[in-house]
Amino acid sequence: MDPKYQAIVWLCLTICYDFNVNGNEIINASSNVQQSKNRTFRIDFTNNQFLMDDQPFRYVGGEFHYFRALPQTWSKKLRTMRAAGLNVVSTYVEWSLHNPSDNHYVWDGIADIVKFITLAEAEDLFVILRPGPYICAERDMGGFPYWLLHKYPRVQLRKYDSDYLKEVRKWYEQLMPKMEPFLYENGGPIIMVQVENEYGSFDCDPNYKNWIREETEKYVQGKALLFTNDGPDQVRCGKIDGVFATLDFGTSSRIDTYWDKLRKMQPNGPLVNSEYYPGWLTHWQEKMQRVDTKPIVASLRQMLNSNASVNFYMFFGGTNFGFTAGANDGGPGSYNVDVTSYDYDAPMDEAGDPTPKYYALRDVIGEYLHLPNIPVPQKEPKMSLGAVRLQPASILTSNTSRRHMGTTPVHSRSPMTFEALNQYSGLILYEANLPIFNRDPSTLKIDKIRDRAYIYNFIGILSRENKINEIPINSNAGDRLQIFVENQGRINYNIPNDFKGIIGEVRINEVPIHDWTITGFPMEKYADIENVIRYSDSEKVDIAYHSYLRHGPTIFHGEFDITDSAICDTYLDPTGWGKGIAFVNGFNLGRYWPVIGPQITLYLPKELLLFGTNKIVLIELQKAPDNGTVVLTDTPDLDGYNRVK
Ligand SMILES: *[C@@H]1O[C@H](CO)[C@@H](O)[C@H](O)[C@H]1NC(C)=O
Ligand SMILES: *[C@@H]1O[C@H](CO)[C@@H](O)[C@H](O)[C@H]1NC(C)=O
Ligand SMILES: *[C@@H]1O[C@H](CO)[C@@H](O)[C@H](O)[C@H]1NC(C)=O
Repeated sequence: MDPKYQAIVWLCLTICYDFNVNGNEIINASSNVQQSKNRTFRIDFTNNQFLMDDQPFRYVGGEFHYFRALPQTWSKKLRTMRAAGLNVVSTYVEWSLHNPSDNHYVWDGIADIVKFITLAEAEDLFVILRPGPYICAERDMGGFPYWLLHKYPRVQLRKYDSDYLKEVRKWYEQLMPKMEPFLYENGGPIIMVQVENEYGSFDCDPNYKNWIREETEKYVQGKALLFTNDGPDQVRCGKIDGVFATLDFGTSSRIDTYWDKLRKMQPNGPLVNSEYYPGWLTHWQEKMQRVDTKPIVASLRQMLNSNASVNFYMFFGGTNFGFTAGANDGGPGSYNVDVTSYDYDAPMDEAGDPTPKYYALRDVIGEYLHLPNIPVPQKEPKMSLGAVRLQPASILTSNTSRRHMGTTPVHSRSPMTFEALNQYSGLILYEANLPIFNRDPSTLKIDKIRDRAYIYNFIGILSRENKINEIPINSNAGDRLQIFVENQGRINYNIPNDFKGIIGEVRINEVPIHDWTITGFPMEKYADIENVIRYSDSEKVDIAYHSYLRHGPTIFHGEFDITDSAICDTYLDPTGWGKGIAFVNGFNLGRYWPVIGPQITLYLPKELLLFGTNKIVLIELQKAPDNGTVVLTDTPDLDGYNRVK
């Protein structure tokens, strides 16, 4: 059967146009960014205000992480923020993005932070830089590179630990010199630089706090203002001597008591909410977190009436593409995985379009700050392309998959972690011989699963999220046990050393199984997957549709044509499939999991699409629908929790 399926392509009826991304169109009449020679950004402690070039200054800012949107789209999103009346964009810097492996640095494409800052300035926005090095942000390992756990398995992150401090110093030696020219008093847009991140929620060590302040100030040199931010009850430990303290909180009827708590630690200075939450983060297996506009408006007004400066977290959330989503540790043994979308119910949605919340907030901001003469960029049209049929190409246990996608197998008495194998994410296959069963059924138990284990021939799934770590097994399983373990994202909050894979032993009736063959499937090189598709014999793929994939995670692929030159954003709807990751034209859109939700559709930006033939690949871990199709739709669906029976 021809694997190529011609989708009926009917493109959006509205005109899709490419927004002019060079900054020429900016109306600079009310320019924020002054060219004065004596640029200063200071605090007036007497009058509780910021002073920019000796003039009173306050900001209403918005958080936008460059690493959650394609770089071609940054300008327009920044302009949409400015059009809301915001005068600041605030961003974290993600260490793991720029330093994905030891001694290897990336500064281009989505990692081109210099370009992001330059574009922010061109769009008439000041910048607040939050270099962490820990950022939380619902990102894998809170933005720390996983390889720290390979290099130093006992490293104490965010502590006064010599290995950790050495690596932070080395990272800042790369990052900070690039930032220096952009500091406000060096002529750039960066007015503030954060030191650590909500540190008071984690620990209280003055040695570490002073060290990280000095390490930051070494580069900032007073050319921008250093600050911390913490929840109202965490400021005591989060505050660093000589660093300006700010708060973070969402809508509340107790805002005055929050400011009182800040005042106890810092009697004077402007009031700042560095993370004001107009939406909230969402985990898989729960409802999409939505926050009503009314209380957001009320609390915003209250803060602005107190002369506070406010930064919305998030104003634009974006997407956790690829394997970048993190997870939260909600207490002992609790593990909750962040969804791929970081829509966040923010004022600008996942595609960057203004929502009703955006317009409501813009109205309030306009009462306090001068709204620039910039029209609000309109919602961009979206397109539906209909159904695309996918064909199975290969099961990951096949020789073809192993040869092209698998790492060289390692033999080990006990299972090894992803980090021990120096593998960032994806899957690891653990294989061993099964013993002769002395009970029918017997119990297969894994000490610690990080995070989800698929046991073959298909027996079932063990899950850290759902605290399921044992399962009945009998001779139907055959002689050879194969366990695929999925890394669902390293914990991003309060940051334990969250090693992935099988930790400890696999036991049958309490007796450990030994002598494992361990093969990694990191899925970082798309060309490897293409090679599997090219060399596999899809006729031989044994798929049982409408039930669990019996022999292992399976690669599915298909094509669709775009015949109209007007290409728009779309959404990939994998309803009917189980759980996996989706690639379009080689780009990893991230994890999907429509059987539980709440996120159903994956955002597919138009910049990833081509005139002509486009390729979709799914690495499906659980099941395929009878019709074998995914749908490209013009409507996102993030509210599908618990919809499938
Ligand atoms: C800059 O500072 C110098 C020295 O304080 C002063 O003479 C000069 O007038 C200032 N220039 C501006 C543009 O404020
Ligand atoms: C806000 O600032 C204005 C102008 O400086 C001042 O008159 C007013 O008292 C301040 N309001 C509060 C609540 O501090
Ligand atoms: C796969 O590789 C193994 C080991 O090299 C070999 O024994 C087996 O025959 C191969 N299977 C197929 C279907 O080629």
